[in-house]
Amino acid sequence: MGVGDDATGEALGRDRTTASGGKPLLFLTRRIPEPGPTLLRDSLTLRGGEEDRDLTPVELLEGVRGVAAVLCTLRERIDDAVLDAAGPSLRVVSNFAVGYDNIDVAAATARGVLVTNTPGVLTEATADLAWALILAAARRVPEGDRMVRSGAFHGWAPTMLLGVDVAGATLGIVGMGQIGRAVARRAVGFSMPVVYTRRSGPLEATETPAGAEWRYCSDLDSLLVQADIISVHVPLTEGTHHLLGARELALVRPGAVLVNTARGPVVHEEALVEALRGGPLGAAGLDVYEDEPAVHPGLAGLENVVLLPHLGSATHAARGRMAELAARNAIAALSGARVPHPVNLEALGSPDR
Ligand code: GLV
Repeated sequence: MGVGDDATGEALGRDRTTASGGKPLLFLTRRIPEPGPTLLRDSLTLRGGEEDRDLTPVELLEGVRGVAAVLCTLRERIDDAVLDAAGPSLRVVSNFAVGYDNIDVAAATARGVLVTNTPGVLTEATADLAWALILAAARRVPEGDRMVRSGAFHGWAPTMLLGVDVAGATLGIVGMGQIGRAVARRAVGFSMPVVYTRRSGPLEATETPAGAEWRYCSDLDSLLVQADIISVHVPLTEGTHHLLGARELALVRPGAVLVNTARGPVVHEEALVEALRGGPLGAAGLDVYEDEPAVHPGLAGLENVVLLPHLGSATHAARGRMAELAARNAIAALSGARVPHPVNLEALGSPDR
């Protein structure tokens, strides 16, 4: 494991979290872009963060030992074992992601540990990628690319690689949060009516942009039977695990396109393979997988699915903003300042705090 400013790399106890230059100690689980590391170094003592690879479970447990803060990514599971390994010095877990299903928030709250995330700064980048998948899946872009590269393109043909119309189709947004809305806003340019589900009920009329036709669906089934293109934007929780299973995927319109840029386990991958093979689904675009980075073997064998390696927020600017926000969240939590994006403010009232 790479070691940052905490050069001794020794296990530090609670009373030693400010030992190095009086600055609290933060464990950075892997390399993140600037300005994250510079901001962190200005205020904290940094351990880790030099290598860009998954940590082994043992490296994670060793890395967090005795720190005041952990800045982690969605590749690390922060559970009871990790929180226990960190010990009572731990004040904050700053997630370099908007989704925080990799963190056992209840376990953190019970220990008085604040959890933070990075919403807002990746909204537009993720919405752009959802649209990349919508267009790629509907218009068979990767199949066309493969055809040209393999030398199988022998000239334009009236029936070659026909896809489905995007302009004018009905777009279904499953989870009309910040990212769902950003995807829906782009649909105005494609003259697409939008149907959506939203945990907290319909949006106010004033929240619908000019020229848009957005209709609330009180249940997922009624969205699925209306939408030609379905884009998933719910967080992964116990309630959304396998939200789209065999029953739901059987309801979709024949030839419908499903796009998932949220979290893999929201869609039952085995049922998705079946729905793409012989079921009503025409195509799918996936950026996330049930058991990431493993991909269901059935998916790789299908032509009508576009597979991306979890690129939703992968632009230089968005990743830089995420790094900055994740650093600011951690620094604020340790200095007692207002934390930009806390997930479990109730942790601050915990008796363990
Ligand atoms: C990326 O998937 C994120 O949740 O930020």
